[in-house]
Amino acid sequence: MATQIVTSEANTAAVPGEALEFDDIQGLVFFGHGHLKYSRYVFLRMKDGKQARARAWLRTLLERKEVSTASGKQHPGLKDVKGEHALQVAFTYSGLKALGLSPEVMTTFLQEFREGMRDERRARILGDTGGSAPEKWQVGGDATMAHVVLVLFGKDDADLDVFHASHRDCYQEALEEVFIQDADMRQGDTEPFGFRDGISFPYIKGVPTTRGSDALGLPINAGEFILGYHNAYGQYPFSPRVPRSQDPGNLLPDVPRSQRVSGEPRPKDLGRNGTYLVIRKLRQDVAGFWKFVEENSRDPDKSAEENEANKELLAAKLVGRWRSGAPVELCPMKDDPTLGADSARNNHFEFRDDPYGVKCPLSSHVRRSNPRDTLVDDPQESIKLGSRHLIIRRGRPYHDKFADGAEEQGLMFVALNTNIGRQFEFIQQTWMNNPKFSDLYDSKDPIAGDNYDPEYPGDEPKDYTAVVPGFPVRQRLTGLPRFVHTRGGDYFFLPGIKALRYLSMERTP
Ligand code: HEM
Repeated sequence: MATQIVTSEANTAAVPGEALEFDDIQGLVFFGHGHLKYSRYVFLRMKDGKQARARAWLRTLLERKEVSTASGKQHPGLKDVKGEHALQVAFTYSGLKALGLSPEVMTTFLQEFREGMRDERRARILGDTGGSAPEKWQVGGDATMAHVVLVLFGKDDADLDVFHASHRDCYQEALEEVFIQDADMRQGDTEPFGFRDGISFPYIKGVPTTRGSDALGLPINAGEFILGYHNAYGQYPFSPRVPRSQDPGNLLPDVPRSQRVSGEPRPKDLGRNGTYLVIRKLRQDVAGFWKFVEENSRDPDKSAEENEANKELLAAKLVGRWRSGAPVELCPMKDDPTLGADSARNNHFEFRDDPYGVKCPLSSHVRRSNPRDTLVDDPQESIKLGSRHLIIRRGRPYHDKFADGAEEQGLMFVALNTNIGRQFEFIQQTWMNNPKFSDLYDSKDPIAGDNYDPEYPGDEPKDYTAVVPGFPVRQRLTGLPRFVHTRGGDYFFLPGIKALRYLSMERTP
């Protein structure tokens, strides 16, 4: 039965939807554990012959109720989450295979997940080429592939170390660490280029929220983000399933009747209350970004102050929001920090009155990653179509410091969705990396697009532009370099708690 969730007074009521089984859903789906500023991604690989130990480790996690859910003791309410620590656990395709899932079950996962992010075709779809190609990755490439990711959250570094060490004691016999990445929010919710992040979120039916909704306010069916519920098409998303005979303990719920293939004897739903987790380590060339912006906004005839203002303006036009988070669509020439901080207003905008991008350029990151009411002529229809290409983002910035004094900054980009191809990959491929997006012809997303990369054979700077209409006159920037480089990543399955229990059960190979 679905748990009643307690919410703080500030929360608006949930838009009615299907009753979500909050205590079976990992907490990350609903919140980013923002009160715990430090996080660590521990990528693990099962040791040979240690499958049984790995399953025993999972059972221990469950017995100790270590996996954070959206309710229960750790999380009495969606907004009142104040646990001391949080932990989420997810698996790659090869991880599930290594845990001993049968071939019949493995084939029921999404193709994108089965192939993995490093797959040649998927890499091309994502623009992971040249310097961002999987063979150069720190994690997730052929030699650095993980089976499991543990995402740990704590209040500071020392606390996280202790939390991590306590878990290492439990898993180290079965799993070895492939890669560890820290990411934290000590700078608040600002990403490394200096812009406030984590503002726009889908408005999900059945989930209380304090956030203002999109202007046309279309609440989305939960099945876009959680398996086992209706999606934006009013259908159940594809969910991995288990033949009834392979769940003798009856741990899993039945696959809904409408989802059964005729003749299939009542299969069990392994996906329900789970989802797919996209993790990408994205390096940001912060110095390169600001150098490019400065070179393209400096006017020798203007004062230093005017040039500084122009620099901020151009950067905001490329992102689609000012540093404060205020949308350039609402304040096109000057930042409005009050608006940026006002969650009731800072996501309340559309683009249909700005068809040429004079306020918010067509190519800006925010406009490309969510074109809102401008996909087709009818704004309502546009919002409806767009609602099929949304993701929940849970990324956090990282700042690596190396022994030789070198430093690297970027984003541990994290997205949740139930259909990787139609949601995450679609945004990256069809909107961000598409030179012909919205009647443009040779520009890509200036922030997250696969722009000019000298390491990609045949790439020419002249082929990459960004057009900024009305800045203060129309400006065409050529030779747009790639400011964001992929350093690793993979697709994971983030199971519900019942599914985790199923995965932890002993099974004969
Ligand atoms: C290092 C790379 C990236 C940076 C620095 C970045 C930065 C930002 C910033 C500053 C915002 C505006 C704040 C907000 O609305 O939350 C934003 C929004 C967004 N980004 Fe990114 N982003 C990056 C990569 C990506 C990627 C890879 C995707 C998906 C493929 C993505 C999808 C989105 C979406 C969907 C929005 C919200 C758009 C809206 O609804 O208005 N971003 N990003």
